[in-house]
Amino acid sequence: MQEKIIILDFGSQTTQLIGRRLRELNMYCEIVPYNKFPHDDPSVIGVILSGSPFSVYDEKAFKTDLTEIRGKYPILGICYGAQFLAYTNGGTVESADSREYGRARLEYINSSDPLLSGIEQGAQVWMSHGDTITSLPENFKIIASTDHVPVAAYRVENEKVWGVQFHPEVYHSECGTRILENFIKDICGAKQDWSAASFIESTVRELKEQLGDDKVVLGLSGGVDSSVAAVLLNKAIGKNLTCIFVDHGMLRKNEFTNVLKDYECLGLNVIGVDASAEFFKELEGVTDPEKKRKIIGKGFIDVFDREAHKLKDVKWLGQGTIYPDCIESLSITGTTIKSHHNVGGLPEKMNLKLCEPLRLLFKDEVRAVGRELGMPEHLITRHPFPGPGLAVRILGDITPEKVSILQNADDIFIQGLRDWGLYDKVWQAGVILLPVQSVGVMGDERTYERAVALRAVTSTDAMTADWAHLPYEFLAEVSNKIINKVRGVNRVTYDISSKPPATIEWE
Ligand code: XMP
Repeated sequence: MQEKIIILDFGSQTTQLIGRRLRELNMYCEIVPYNKFPHDDPSVIGVILSGSPFSVYDEKAFKTDLTEIRGKYPILGICYGAQFLAYTNGGTVESADSREYGRARLEYINSSDPLLSGIEQGAQVWMSHGDTITSLPENFKIIASTDHVPVAAYRVENEKVWGVQFHPEVYHSECGTRILENFIKDICGAKQDWSAASFIESTVRELKEQLGDDKVVLGLSGGVDSSVAAVLLNKAIGKNLTCIFVDHGMLRKNEFTNVLKDYECLGLNVIGVDASAEFFKELEGVTDPEKKRKIIGKGFIDVFDREAHKLKDVKWLGQGTIYPDCIESLSITGTTIKSHHNVGGLPEKMNLKLCEPLRLLFKDEVRAVGRELGMPEHLITRHPFPGPGLAVRILGDITPEKVSILQNADDIFIQGLRDWGLYDKVWQAGVILLPVQSVGVMGDERTYERAVALRAVTSTDAMTADWAHLPYEFLAEVSNKIINKVRGVNRVTYDISSKPPATIEWE
C-alpha cells in the first residue's frame, strides 16, 4: 500500500507547495479540504495543517474538529495551522502590529527536538502572517524563536504534535525541506518511496480502470503538460485517445508545424486544426486582457467542440491541467488572480467527463514523468507558454501584423538563449510587444516605431519568480538583432521585475 501524508488545506496559496516539497522527498501526499479528512484510509501516516488567508478570529475562518486525528497521527501545523492548534487549546493569537512578511532567522533553536534536528542557529525561514501566537497552552513548549516572533515553533509535550509559524514549504525557507523531512521520516516513519516511475505505474493502472474501453479526446497545446498527459493516456488506452491541436494564430513562429511533427513521432493520434482566421476576427479591437483570455478560451472551446463532434462516442475529455493551474485559477477562497482558460468551460459545454492525470503535479514533476516515459528532451524542457499565447504578450489590441512582429522578435530571443546555452537556465522567456511607439534613428532617418520588452525569469514553480540575470553581452546581441531584423521595432527593454509583486506575463 502506498503510504501517504494528508495535507489539510485551510486555503493558503502555498498549500500545494507543501505537497510539492513532500514529493521532492519522494513522499506521496494528498491535499484535501480542511474538513474532509479521510478517516477510514489506512495508508495515512501523518497530517499537515496548512496556512490560511484567514485569522483564527475571522467569522469565516475554516475550522475543523481535530480530536479524532490528534493522538492517532503525528501532526504538523504550519502558520494558520499552528495558530489554530494553539488557539483551540487555550493559547492566545493576536494580530501583529505590522504584517510580518519575508526572511527571518531562527535565533533560538531546541536542536534536541526531532522536528529541528540538524537545523542550525541562524537558519533562514520565510514568514508571511498577520497574526502571531502570543501565549501557548500549558503543555505546548517553544522550540524555536526569531527576534520578532517568540513562538516561531512549538511542540505539544508527550504528543506527536508540532506547530511552526513560518512556511517551511517555500523556497526561501532554507531549512524548510530538512524540517519537512524530519517530520515525515523521523516522526512519521515514512519510507519515502514515491517516484516518477511509481506515479506512471499507478496512474496508468488507474486510467485503465477509470476509462475501460471509453474514448477520450484531448487538447494539445504544444506545451509539456498536455504532451505528457497525452503520452500517459496513450500508454493506458492507446488508440482510444484522439488528440486535437488547435492553432489559434498566436503560437510562436513555426510552432504549429514543428510540434505537430513531434506528436506524430510520439505515435499520438493527432488532428491539427488551423483556426487562426476565426480567432483574429473575434479578437479585433479587444484590449482588455481578461476579455482576450475569455475570447480565446471560448474560441478554443468552439473549435475543439466542433472537431471533437466529428469523432464518435467520445465520453471523456483529457486535459494536461497541473496543480498551479488549479490553484491560481480557483483558490479555496474564490479569489481569481488570472483566469487560465484550460481549467473549466470545456467539459460542461461538451457534456464530457474530465480526466486530468497530472492535476496533482508541479511542472518539474511533469518533466520527470515525461523523461521516465522516454519523451524527447526538447519537448520536455520547452518553456511554459500561456494557453492564450502571444495574445497576452501583445498589450492592447491584436492584429496579424503585431503577431508577426512579435513572433519574429520572440524567435530571435529564444534562438539566442539556445545559442548562448541559456535556454535551460531560465524557467520561461518571451518578448512583450508594448503599446507604445518611440523615436529612434536608423541611418539618416528618424523612426517612430514600436518598443518591445524582453522577459526572462527563473523559477521553480511559477508561483514565485525572479528576473533572470542574463549577461549584458547577450542582451546587447539580442537587442541589436531585433532592432536590425524585425521591421517595426526600434527599441528593446529588459523587464527586471520579480513575482510577486509583478506576474510573469504582462497581462
Ligand atoms: P503569471 O503571469 O500569472 O503566470 O505569473 C504564471 C504561469 O502561468 C502561465 N500563464 C498562463 N497559462 N493560460 C495558461 O495556460 C493563461 O491564461 C495563462 N496566463 C499565464 C504563465 O506563462 C506562467 O508560466
